[in-house]
Amino acid sequence: MDKKKFYITTPIYYPSGKAHIGHSYCTVGSDAIARYKRMQGYDVMFLTGTDEHGQKIEQKAAEEGITPKEYVDKIVAGFQDLWKLLDISNDRFIRTTDDYHVKAVQKIFRTLYDKGEIYKGAYKGWYCTPCESFWTETQLKDHKCPDCGREVTWSEEEAYFFKLSNYADRLLKLYEEHPDFIQPESRKNEMIQFIKRGLEDLCVSRTSFTWGIPVDFDPKHVVYVWLDALTNYITALGYGSDDDSDYQKYWPADVHFVGKEIVRFHTIIWPAMLMALDLPLPKQVYGHGWLLFGDGTKMSKSKGNVVDPVILCERYGVDAIRYFLLREIPFGSDGNFTNEALISRINSDLANDLGNLVSRSTQMAQKYFGGVIPSERESAPIDEELIAMATALKAKCDEHVDHYQFSNALSEIWKLIARTNKYIDETTPWILGKDESQKPRLAAVLYNLCEVLRIISVLLTPFMPNTTPKIQAQLGISGDAVSYENSDKWGVLPADAVITKGEILFPRIDVDKEIAALVEIIGDTSGKANEEPKDEKKEEKQAAKKDSKPVEGVATLEQIAIDDFFKVDLRVAKILSCEPVKKSKKLLKLTLDDGAGTRTVASGISPYYQPEALIGKSVVLVANLKPAKLCGVESQGMILAASCGDDDVRVLFVDGMPAGSKIS
Ligand code: ME8
Ligand code: MG
Repeated sequence: MDKKKFYITTPIYYPSGKAHIGHSYCTVGSDAIARYKRMQGYDVMFLTGTDEHGQKIEQKAAEEGITPKEYVDKIVAGFQDLWKLLDISNDRFIRTTDDYHVKAVQKIFRTLYDKGEIYKGAYKGWYCTPCESFWTETQLKDHKCPDCGREVTWSEEEAYFFKLSNYADRLLKLYEEHPDFIQPESRKNEMIQFIKRGLEDLCVSRTSFTWGIPVDFDPKHVVYVWLDALTNYITALGYGSDDDSDYQKYWPADVHFVGKEIVRFHTIIWPAMLMALDLPLPKQVYGHGWLLFGDGTKMSKSKGNVVDPVILCERYGVDAIRYFLLREIPFGSDGNFTNEALISRINSDLANDLGNLVSRSTQMAQKYFGGVIPSERESAPIDEELIAMATALKAKCDEHVDHYQFSNALSEIWKLIARTNKYIDETTPWILGKDESQKPRLAAVLYNLCEVLRIISVLLTPFMPNTTPKIQAQLGISGDAVSYENSDKWGVLPADAVITKGEILFPRIDVDKEIAALVEIIGDTSGKANEEPKDEKKEEKQAAKKDSKPVEGVATLEQIAIDDFFKVDLRVAKILSCEPVKKSKKLLKLTLDDGAGTRTVASGISPYYQPEALIGKSVVLVANLKPAKLCGVESQGMILAASCGDDDVRVLFVDGMPAGSKIS
């Protein structure tokens, strides 16, 4: 039987400037869907490319003193390198300067002309000769060119037009009969309103510039951009070429992913052109939102305020960037790109949640069983919930991916990661490990952890294709064990899998240091920089920041004076009682004798200590810390502990010293 096919496209981007994180957003989203569908067994065609013609590119090239082709070649190479770097798995890359596309567009143009769908007319408007631009009456400023302020003259340019105005009724009917054609739903209403205001015929040729596909039967005209651009989705498959077998196989597209600003072209002009050609229509156009800066301004080439994804990938790794783009913003909505949000996702979701789960699980499998988990395993009722959640994950991810909601799919995966980290805290394998008779139970716990990781590693692959092979290597599994088909089964991890603790997947980032570094490198993404580009106070502040250099070596904080140190009241305190905080997986509630009386302190050491083991111990208390409420417990101070490495936190014990003794 033939495999089910799936055809997905991104917009073809204008190579008028370097590829930026906004372009990466749509491309990474499309890639995740394409990979997921391939994993599900679909025969996928994933297309991206570049839209290389037009006056703007002609001008840019002229400014640099090179030909338009030289100009685009350089920038397109940058796009292609970026897609390689971001692990984009596109099956094809179309350039509108490719010969086969040029020929096919000429053919399409002629066909439409022969059918009477394209006619010759005149493009009328106010013309600014130096800018070579037409303006409508309302676009003019004081009856002058809105760009350069010079005189404009009424003029008419011969041009070809596509009879778009004929299609209003058919388009409205299309939206009605195929309610999913435009997604998200809200964009559909905009399109309906637009059509109801009246459609004008569309200008599809120009004579005022030459960087375009010549109309072969009237070569002083070049094809004007949208007819050239939109047809890429079929010419890339061979439509209009000798071999159109891929067109026969993959068209119509299952979905065109496009930014919301070009939904109109894709849901009005494109289907109308296809109707005029008597070709099938794409099944869906999905208009995604914009990546904005913190102040709500759009990142765009024309504003020159773009973030360079290459720099981000170099600093944090490709998968961290992919994860951020896919997770942070629900597909369809606008969302903010800020340095702070990026680093916070990396630290909390990747380093803490996923990274820790992998390192804790593999480390314990190593430590207690030399990496091979014994098959004598004793299950317990607490395992059931975890197993149920893990085996249900695949269906949830499938459902979200079917609706192109990759942020929801990732959020489901992270719910399981959080639940599994909690399972470690609940089952306390480090305590089981101390008791020989508990070995079968310990084996079951560790097997369950690795089994969850196996499932996660499979379902996460389309989103983070660099990271999951590393997890699978640490679990010692490959082949069937990591198949999609087995990602809702339990007990697949082979008994002889050799588990090893590998490299740290996502090192934690020092937030303050990193934000300062990023402001230097890519600028302030909070949007404040956009508001006040020449704020002297800000420059002063930045200069001040530069002066207070961190101390070299181990210390990473600024130097302080001895007086500052004496502001901290450190005391010996004795732990009288200790219990877990119900609402928290990290906190223990300690009752301390501080020499003067008793006080309560909440401490995030639950993953590392059993409450009973702490009773009677003496610790170092920060006695004059402002009280704070932590998960419902008022904590009056904190106790000192050392971070001795990944997942190894040790409380400073000062047994034998009297409670209340001052430390300095
Ligand atoms: O419009 N946030 O090309 P283009 C999110 N050539 N996505 C963004 C973005 C941002 N800040 N900036 C760009 C064109 N994009 C035409 C398309 S298709 C037949 C022709 C993404 O270079 C988004 O997907 O202006 C948007 O639609 C696309 O890049 C526009 O790229
Ligand atoms: Mg654009």
